[in-house]
Amino acid sequence: MTHQTIVVVDFGGQYNQLIVRRVRNQNVYAVLVSADATAAQIAAYHPIGIIFTGGPQSVFGADSPKADPGIFELGVPILGICYGMQLIAHMSGGTVQHAAVGEYGRKEIEYGDSPLFAGLAAQNLCWMSHTDCVTALPEGFVRTAQTATCAIAAYENRQRNVYAVQFHPEVAHTRDGNKILGNFLYAICHADGDWQMSDFVGEQVAAIRAKVGDGKVLCAMSGGVDSAVAATLVHRAVGDNLTCIFVDHGLLRKNEADEVMRVFRDERGMNLVKVDASKRFLDDLRGVKEPERKRKIIGKDFIEVFGEEAKKSCKVDFLVQGTIYPDVIESGLGKSATIKSHHNVGGLPSVVDFKEIIEPLRSLFKDEVRALGLALGLPAYIVNRQPFPGPGLAVRIIGNITRAKIKIVQEADAILREEIAKAGLADDIWQYFAVLTDMRSVGVMGDERTYDYTVALRAVTSVDGMTSDWARIPYDVLATISTRIVNEVKKVNRVVYDITAKPPATIEWE
Ligand code: XMP
Repeated sequence: MTHQTIVVVDFGGQYNQLIVRRVRNQNVYAVLVSADATAAQIAAYHPIGIIFTGGPQSVFGADSPKADPGIFELGVPILGICYGMQLIAHMSGGTVQHAAVGEYGRKEIEYGDSPLFAGLAAQNLCWMSHTDCVTALPEGFVRTAQTATCAIAAYENRQRNVYAVQFHPEVAHTRDGNKILGNFLYAICHADGDWQMSDFVGEQVAAIRAKVGDGKVLCAMSGGVDSAVAATLVHRAVGDNLTCIFVDHGLLRKNEADEVMRVFRDERGMNLVKVDASKRFLDDLRGVKEPERKRKIIGKDFIEVFGEEAKKSCKVDFLVQGTIYPDVIESGLGKSATIKSHHNVGGLPSVVDFKEIIEPLRSLFKDEVRALGLALGLPAYIVNRQPFPGPGLAVRIIGNITRAKIKIVQEADAILREEIAKAGLADDIWQYFAVLTDMRSVGVMGDERTYDYTVALRAVTSVDGMTSDWARIPYDVLATISTRIVNEVKKVNRVVYDITAKPPATIEWE
C-alpha cells in the first residue's frame, strides 16, 4: 500500500527536516526532495501537496536555488514558507526586496480570511526569521496576514491553490503553527491521515519477506538504536535466515557488549555473532593522537573485521543497513563541509559479496525509529539509548589510547550515567558522557601530592545533534558525580563540566 505523500522541496533552510516531521506527526507521510528536483520527479511521488521550505539565500542571487516552473502546473496545492514564499512571488511576477533591517524572533501577527488560518485567533504570534520581503503581490494573489514590520506576511491564490507564509509554522514558537500545517494538509490537500507506525511494521515485514524469500541476510549490529531496530525488523520478517555480526572494538561503554548479547541473542534468539577484535583495534591505534586518523583507522579496521567474519558465514544474498532518513538527506542533499568523518557502515558493501542492500529505516527519523523499536517490542532502555559514536570511546579519549585510559573513561562514564538516572534527568538530556582529557594537574589526596588526569563531563540538550546546548544539570548532582569520580576512579584528581554550545564546539570532543 502506498501512502498519500506530501513532497517538501528543500531550499536549504535549517528547519526543513522539522517540516517533514511535523507533517508526519499529523499522520501524513512526507518526503524531502532537493531544490533541483524536476516537476516530473516530484510528480512521480503522486503528491497530494507540495511545500517549499525556507532557505538562507536571496531569490535574486545568481546561485540561489530555483524551482522547476513545471511544479506549478502539476495541479497540486503548494505552500511556500519564508524563502519558499519569496520564490513563489519572484517566479510569478511579484516583487521581492531586500529590507534594511531583518525581522527575527517571535512577532505579533494579524491573520485574515484564509483556509490556512481557519479556526485561529486573528491576533496571534508567529516566528519570523528573514531579511528579504515580498513587497508587491503577483497578479491574482491576495494578502492574508500582516505584522507591524512585514506588510505581506502571507498571501494566497485560491483558484490556483497556492498559499504562502513569511513566518515559520513548523517551529514551536509560532503559536498555532501545527494548526496551520494541519489546515494545509486536511482542508486544502484533503489528506486521509493514514500514516502510522504500526502499519509500517506490517508493510515492511511483508515487503522484506517478499524480497528475501529464502535468501540469507547479514547485518552489522553496533548496539546503537538504528542497527538494532533494523535487525529486529528484518528478524521478524526472515527469522533464522538473518545473521548479525557485532564487532567489539574494545571502545564500548562499560558492560555494553554484554548487554547487546543478552538482549538480542539470549532474549530474542537472534543469530548474533560477537567478534572480539579489541586487540587489533588497539594495536592499530597505538600512539595515534590525531582525531581524524583515529576515526579513519577505526572505520577501516571495522570494515575489514566485518568482511573477514562475513566470509565465514556461507553465502550472503542481502545486507541490512540501519540507514535512517537524516543520513540519506545529509549524504544526498547537503553540501556542507566535513567537520568529522563519521564512522558508519557505509563501507561494508565493498567487503561482502551480496545481491542487494536492505535499508528498512531509510524513510524514518530518529524519533520514528524509536517508536518502531517499541512497536517491535524492544525494551525502552535499548530504544531510548543515547546516541553513541561509531568510533566509541576513542573520540572521548584525547591523545593516544591505552587500555588503562579506556578503563578510566568507562568507569567515569558509568558513574555519570548512574547519577543522571538517579536524579531522574535521563529523559531531559539528549546525550551525556565522560571525556578523558589528556591533561594532568596537581592535586592533594590524603596528605599526598597527586599528578593525575582531568575528566570532563559533557551533557547536552539537542533535537537532532546538529546543534546543541549544554544541559543545566543541578549543582548538587554535578557535585555528587564529581566526588564519586575522584574517589572511585583511579588516576583522576579533577573533574570539569563542559559549558559550550554547538556550534562553536561539537558534541564529541574529537
Ligand atoms: P558531533 O561531535 O559531530 O556529534 O557534534 C553529533 C552527534 O553525532 C554523534 N557522532 C557519531 N555518530 N558515528 C556516529 O554514528 C560517528 O563517527 C560519530 N561521531 C559523532 C555524536 O555522538 C553526536 O550525537
